[in-house]
Amino acid sequence: MSSFTPRVFSGMQPTGNLHLGNYLGAMLNWIKLQETHECIYCVVDMHAITVWQDPKELRKAILDVTAAYLACGLDPSRSIIFNQSQVPEHAELAWIFNCVARMGWLNRMTQFKEKAGKDKEQASVGLYVYPNLMAADILAYKATHVPVGEDQKQHLELARDIAGKFNLDFADAIREAGHEGDFFPQPEPFIMGPATRVMSLRDGTKKMSKSDPSDLSRLNLTDDADTIARKIRKAKTDADSLPSESAGLKGRPEADNLTGIYAALAGSSVDQVLAQFGGGQFSKLKDALAELAVARLGPIGQETKRLQADPGHVEGILADGSRRARAIARPIMREVRKIAGFVVF
Ligand code: TYM
Repeated sequence: MSSFTPRVFSGMQPTGNLHLGNYLGAMLNWIKLQETHECIYCVVDMHAITVWQDPKELRKAILDVTAAYLACGLDPSRSIIFNQSQVPEHAELAWIFNCVARMGWLNRMTQFKEKAGKDKEQASVGLYVYPNLMAADILAYKATHVPVGEDQKQHLELARDIAGKFNLDFADAIREAGHEGDFFPQPEPFIMGPATRVMSLRDGTKKMSKSDPSDLSRLNLTDDADTIARKIRKAKTDADSLPSESAGLKGRPEADNLTGIYAALAGSSVDQVLAQFGGGQFSKLKDALAELAVARLGPIGQETKRLQADPGHVEGILADGSRRARAIARPIMREVRKIAGFVVF
């Protein structure tokens, strides 16, 4: 086994606003990892077009999501922040991976089934091979750690399978090209914290998502204080009081969700939250949660809006990040071409 330099890679789709699920499931960990790791954070615009995007809106969404990244605390002087389409190595490596991954592997992807719905025939081919592009995003940088929410776990497993099959299929060529051991690392998912799967505020059995038609189902990072408080007040609950221990959250998805959200925003644990609020009415937790969410998310929303008013600045960060990202991906892709047997000049 060869060892790989630790490197973090992750991304979010520029489709609509970022929401609390993106923030608690992924972003909080992205921010922390900047302290300890070399980090590459991508706005995955090529993933977005696997379902139809109006070009004008897409352009705005790419800048808006970048503004949100910065407002949350990603630091372009420490991390590379860029948009996927500016580094063509992603698409190129994805093609190689289209030829490494097996149809059977992709057929198992639950997210494709969910997104394509009943009418699979009408889904884009891009939506089907999306996990191969995701593997390419990560492996174009030989990234070793990938902070994501729980819903991306299966895609990460596929990325590991692809890395493994590439290493095995091309083992001789990899050695002949002068590489010792595996060419690609097996990227590890980082799924951490008390809110790795944030659920809808209207239905504790459904994931919080951008595509839910009800805006009341999610907290957007750009919601103002009144909207945040109103959404939390209206969040679905059940009739019982809160339990004092986490075992009591079983079978109570809304109680589970709200305590998890509180813990993640407070930087504490579910047990600590229940020690404080257990035995009491939901309304007490909701009042405290509204206050905490406004305190945590309010400044992010304001900073996002400030940055949205300065698109030149945001574009400059993406341009610089893209150059830095490409400087890493280009030599790796050149090696991949050689290993695959292409004639490289
Ligand atoms: P996306 O854009 O759907 O979501 C971005 C990140 O937010 C997390 N997330 C959640 N976490 C907890 N609860 C939720 N309700 C919730 N909703 C979203 C996601 O797990 C993700 O971490 N395919 C990816 C983007 C991607 C990517 C990559 C990620 C493309 N290439 C390479 C990592 C590495 C996606 O669609 O995420």
